[in-house]
Amino acid sequence: MGSLTVRNLPEAVKKRLRLRAAANGRSMEEEVRLLLAEKSGDAPAAARPESPVSMISAWMSRPEDAPVAARTDNRAKPARQSAEPPPAATARRILLIISGGIAAYKSLDLIRRLRERAYTVRVVMTRAAQEFVTSLSVGAIAGEKPFTELFDQASEFDVGHIRLARDTDLIVVAPAAADLMAKMAHGHANDLATAVLLATDRPILLAPAMNPRMWSNSATQRNLKILLADGVLTVGPNAGEMAESGEVGTGRMAEPLDIVAAVEKRLAGATADAPPSRARPLAGKHIIITAGPTHEPIDPVRYIANRSSGKQGFAIARAAADAGAKVTLISGPVALPDPSGVKIVRVQTAQAMLVAVQAALPADVGIFAAAVADWRIAGDIVQKLKKDAGGPPKLELVENPDILATVSRLKTKRPALVIGFAAETEKVIEHAKAKLKRKGSDWIVANDVSAEGGAMGGDDNTVHLITAAGVESWPAQSKDGVARQLVARIANALNGEPS
Ligand code: CTP
Repeated sequence: MGSLTVRNLPEAVKKRLRLRAAANGRSMEEEVRLLLAEKSGDAPAAARPESPVSMISAWMSRPEDAPVAARTDNRAKPARQSAEPPPAATARRILLIISGGIAAYKSLDLIRRLRERAYTVRVVMTRAAQEFVTSLSVGAIAGEKPFTELFDQASEFDVGHIRLARDTDLIVVAPAAADLMAKMAHGHANDLATAVLLATDRPILLAPAMNPRMWSNSATQRNLKILLADGVLTVGPNAGEMAESGEVGTGRMAEPLDIVAAVEKRLAGATADAPPSRARPLAGKHIIITAGPTHEPIDPVRYIANRSSGKQGFAIARAAADAGAKVTLISGPVALPDPSGVKIVRVQTAQAMLVAVQAALPADVGIFAAAVADWRIAGDIVQKLKKDAGGPPKLELVENPDILATVSRLKTKRPALVIGFAAETEKVIEHAKAKLKRKGSDWIVANDVSAEGGAMGGDDNTVHLITAAGVESWPAQSKDGVARQLVARIANALNGEPS
């Protein structure tokens, strides 16, 4: 056995072995080991072929050892079982690319978490990644030696970058370093990781991790924009303290469990026979989104405002752009950076917001998440109000235009789907249902904005979707989660699929 190398097998046998190994999610060497373990003893000694090479050649030409079309993680089972019909043909093959960065240590936990959930995990490590974690520890946790070289003539794991790129259901890059993202955005293929990423037609999920200044650098943001436009998905990076002492900001890799959740979400419904493609369900659609509060001036230094942070609207803009939509985000004053891949128009007042929405039409979908001030000060405001003997000023208010109702009632240029939000502090569903009728929108996303709900300004939201068909209460989740769920519902509605 010690003298056996896969390369010594006849070409035809090698080809079948490669297919069989790929179908079972194993390396060729591992496949051979299992075959030998299983077959030794199943034929009388006199009848056995003499050398491991001829034994394998003989077994590989038997029909029951043909590769199975669909596969699950059965690497612990004897190889013979893989010829039986697979029990559950869900897509569960992950190719994990680890690039260089301090967060690479978290990838070990990610591999463990994925394998616990019965994913097969093949790993590619860049040279820089190997400076942070050893291929030995990665191999021990993955159950298979990681792939590191683009041209590895001596390796028995000779599957080649094209097979690595294709024999997977999803490619996860964690951590995705700035340098790797730059190479991906510009189509470089000068090492195994970038060659695989360029050769794949599978979905790619990036978990970026880098120093906050590298993340916010316009070069990285430009590259991110390109990658998002190419249909690459991202999870994180998160804000917080970095591994480097004293560094705080956005750039921490998403936690392994968050990455697992993003994997499960992307692979939901995909099967081994119908693996996911890089779907962009809103490609070709234009979506207008309003977000944030409006500021209505009282005088040149004072204004009427509310506590809206804009986070939910911005999250929807990001999710819609990720799904391939052309997005125009019209935002009131908020302290949030421009989301990448989105056209942003920043305004101050309700009237300016309406003008910007009208200018952005036509659109396929309008999502009105802004907390527009209902009233503004009547008349022209020129000078700062002064205290005088007459006591506090009497402010005369006039009603602002209702942007949602205006767009809902357009005769021409009405988007096919108009979605409003209802910010309520009591009787959430009852008030939201009334708003659906009053405003003429197709859907209302109702959220509890009472202080206890914590939605205003917070990162989480609990919403109910109100449509003509009824009320759906969604689980409490992050605003990003609400955004993704809403975008998926929109995509289904526009594509005429059941939601
Ligand atoms: N909206 C709008 N223009 C306005 C007021 C509200 O486009 N002038 C939109 C919001 O963006 C949201 C929906 O209408 O999609 C409901 O907003 P909300 O503040 O909950 O309702 P109001 O109409 O202001 O009613 P109320 O304040 O009485 O609850």
